[in-house]
Amino acid sequence: MASASSFPKFSLTLLLLLLVLGSTNAQLSTNFYSKSCPNLFSAVKSTVHSAIMEELRMGASLLRLFFHDCFVNGCDGSLLLDDTSSFTGEKNAAPNRNSARGFNVVDNIKSAVEKVCPGVVSCADILAIAARDSVKILGGPYWDVKLGRRDARTASQAAANNSIPPPTSNLNRLISRFNALGLSTRDLVALSGSHTIGQTRCTSFRARIYNESNIDSSFAQTSQKNCPRTSGSGDNNLAPLDIQTPTFFDNNYFKNLINRRGLLHSDQELFNGGSTDSIVRGYSNNPSSFSSDFATAMIKMGDISPLTGSRGEIRKNCRRVN
Ligand code: HEM
Ligand SMILES: *[C@@H]1O[C@H](CO)[C@@H](O)[C@H](O)[C@H]1NC(C)=O
Ligand SMILES: *[C@@H]1O[C@H](CO)[C@@H](O)[C@H](O)[C@H]1NC(C)=O
Repeated sequence: MASASSFPKFSLTLLLLLLVLGSTNAQLSTNFYSKSCPNLFSAVKSTVHSAIMEELRMGASLLRLFFHDCFVNGCDGSLLLDDTSSFTGEKNAAPNRNSARGFNVVDNIKSAVEKVCPGVVSCADILAIAARDSVKILGGPYWDVKLGRRDARTASQAAANNSIPPPTSNLNRLISRFNALGLSTRDLVALSGSHTIGQTRCTSFRARIYNESNIDSSFAQTSQKNCPRTSGSGDNNLAPLDIQTPTFFDNNYFKNLINRRGLLHSDQELFNGGSTDSIVRGYSNNPSSFSSDFATAMIKMGDISPLTGSRGEIRKNCRRVN
C-alpha cells in the first residue's frame, strides 16, 4: 500500500526518470519508420545511387551536409532552409557559401520519400540516411542509422559561422570543438577520415601549399599548379582532398597525412607531432579499425541535439518551414 508520504517520493522518481530519458536522445531508434514508412530506405538509396552515378563527387557533398547540419544546433535540417527576403538561413554562412552543395539531390530524395509516405519523414533524417548510403556506395562502411529527428522551424547564420571549425584550425581548437559536442578526440580523427572523398577549393588550402613547411614538397608543387598564389585568382579551383583515391572511401587519407600530404591545414594538424599522431598511424595501418570507429562516430554525431517528440515539424519541402 502506498502511504501518503511515499507518493511525493514516487513522483520525484518519475520526474528524475523523465529528465534522464529526455537528455539521452532515447527517442532516436533504428526502426522509427518501420511501420509508418517501410519503403523509406529503398527510396533514399535509389535516389542517392543515381545522383552518385551521375557525379561521383555527390556522395562526398551529401556526407558533408549531414556534418554541417549536426554541428549547428544539432541534426535538425536547419542547413536546408533557403534564405528569403525576411529570413536568413545557414546556406550563406562562411563555411557553406560557394561550398555546401547537393541541395537539389536532397530535394529529389525528399520527393521520392514523399511519394511512398507523404508527411512522415523529416529532412533531418533524410540527411542522416543519405550520408550513410553515400559512404556505403563509395566503398566505405555501413551502419544502422538512428532515426526520429524532426525539422527545425528556424536556422542561425551566426551559429553556422561559429560552430563549424574553419580549415585554419589548430589541433586544440578541433579537439575542443568536437569535445563540446560530446565527440571524443578519436571521433574527431575518425570523422576527419571523411576527407578521403570529395573536393576542396583553392581558397581553403592556399595558405598551406604556399606557406607551410610540414608539407611534402612535390605535393605542394603539384597543388600550386591549379591554385594561384594571389588571393582572388582561382579561388574556386578544385582539388581532391585525397589525391590517391578521391572517389573511394578508404583509409588513404591517413596514409597521406603520414606522408605530409594533407591538403587542408586542419588535416595535417592531426599528424604533426601531437596527441593524435598515434590514432592516425593506427587507422593507416588498420583499415577495419578506421571503418568501425567511423561508423560509431557517425552514429554519435547523428545524436547531437535532435528535435524529437512534438518539437519541430516534419517539413513538406526541405527548403522551407511548413
Ligand atoms: C575536423 C574539422 C573539419 C574541417 C576543418 C573541415 C573542413 C573542410 C573544408 C574546408 C572543406 C572544403 C570546402 C571548400 O573548399 O569548399 C571540406 C570538405 C569536405 N568535408 Fe570537411 N571538415 C571537417 C570535418 C568534416 C567532417 C566531420 C565531415 C563528415 C563527417 C567532413 C566531410 C567533408 C567532405 C565529404 C568534404 C568534401 C565535400 C565535397 O566534395 O562537396 N568534414 N571540409
Ligand atoms: C557570417 O559570416 C559571413 C561571411 O563571413 C558574414 O557575411 C555574415 O555577416 C556572418 N553572419 C553573422 C550573422 O554573423
Ligand atoms: C604567406 O605568409 C606571408 C607572411 O606571413 C603572407 O604575407 C602571405 O600572404 C602568405 N601567403 C599566402 C598564400 O597565404
